Amino acid sequence: MNRPVGIALVGMGWWGKKMLNVLAAAPEDIRVVRAVEPNLETALALCAEKGVELSANYADALADPAVEAVVLATPHALHGSQIEAAVAAGKHVFCEKPLALTKAGAEKAVRLCRDAGLVLGMGHERRWEPPIADLLAKADAGELGRIHQIEANFSHDKFLALDRDNWRLKADQAPAGGMTATGIHLLDLSVRLLGPAESVLCICEQLSSDLPQGDTVAAYVKFKAGGTSYVSASLANPFMSRFTVYGSKGWIDIRDKAHVESPAGWIVTSAMAGGPITTAEVPPAEPVKDNLVSFARAVRGRETYPITATHLVDNIALLEAIFASASSGKIEIVA
Ligand SMILES: NC(=O)c1ccc[n+]([C@@H]2O[C@H](COP(=O)([O-])OP(=O)(O)OC[C@H]3O[C@@H](n4cnc5c(N)ncnc54)[C@H](O)[C@@H]3O)[C@@H](O)[C@H]2O)c1
Repeated sequence: MNRPVGIALVGMGWWGKKMLNVLAAAPEDIRVVRAVEPNLETALALCAEKGVELSANYADALADPAVEAVVLATPHALHGSQIEAAVAAGKHVFCEKPLALTKAGAEKAVRLCRDAGLVLGMGHERRWEPPIADLLAKADAGELGRIHQIEANFSHDKFLALDRDNWRLKADQAPAGGMTATGIHLLDLSVRLLGPAESVLCICEQLSSDLPQGDTVAAYVKFKAGGTSYVSASLANPFMSRFTVYGSKGWIDIRDKAHVESPAGWIVTSAMAGGPITTAEVPPAEPVKDNLVSFARAVRGRETYPITATHLVDNIALLEAIFASASSGKIEIVA
């Protein structure tokens, strides 16, 4: 019989709360043993409602034998040290994006987990969105032919309401506008489809807000094996999320009807060579839950987790070059 994986949710802010809420629907795969949040009062009510023990210290989760895995939904600067501590305690790790802010940091996280025989999951839930999963399967099967180009945008204006001293607006944790918030999901999909990147030009501007790291970012990426991806994100225009892939045999354009915090379904427009342009509606799903379930099944050895170590490192190598290009204004080579 399957035994659910005991997890500790670490960081009970916006996304930790979202994960706790969706995991109620995954009792066969995951049991939330406890939650960790230094600002206890911000999470007391929800944890009490869900019957989840709450404490202020990460060490409590690491010392708890019922906790098999930690799920990190903490500020970006903490991911590296929290992964290291989890591995030292023998816990599997699911880390919210970005895994690290440097390629070296990503390599270290991947190496630590691999050497300890621990699963490393990643908060790139877009891969579990049904139309994206379908697109990836079609691309893998060669149905789109040679992938030429990707155009993608993921924008929202939720951060305009943040205190200006919030960690999400700091240069050391979230440089280049919305790139670590939203753009990174599109970089993950780009690397998944086109492989390691070769170079990137990133332009980040402050156009209509006082967001200190800029509100409008665009990255034009060239891939080593050919092909390009244009990834853009705004932190100051209303919600928009689209992912478009062009191949020699067909193209697919996917638009989210709402932000993944409250999925509302997708509109998929596509055309295959010689065929008409068609549009389909895809009903809502819960990719944040489905990613965590896939991670739990990988912990149990029942599934192979699809975001590979290579994807993780290639993505952060590209992210690091994007930071460099945003600052230099020049094309930067991806290490
Ligand atoms: N996958 C997605 O679509 C998605 C969406 C939103 C956020 N995220 C990611 O989730 C993570 C958290 O983002 P957020 O928007 O929830 O931020 P947040 O600021 O709302 O929440 C972070 C929480 O971590 C807590 N914290 C700080 N130090 C801690 C520590 N040492 N131990 C435990 N908790 C600590 C903070 O008090 C805060 O409550 C980030 O990595 C972010 O990029 C992912």
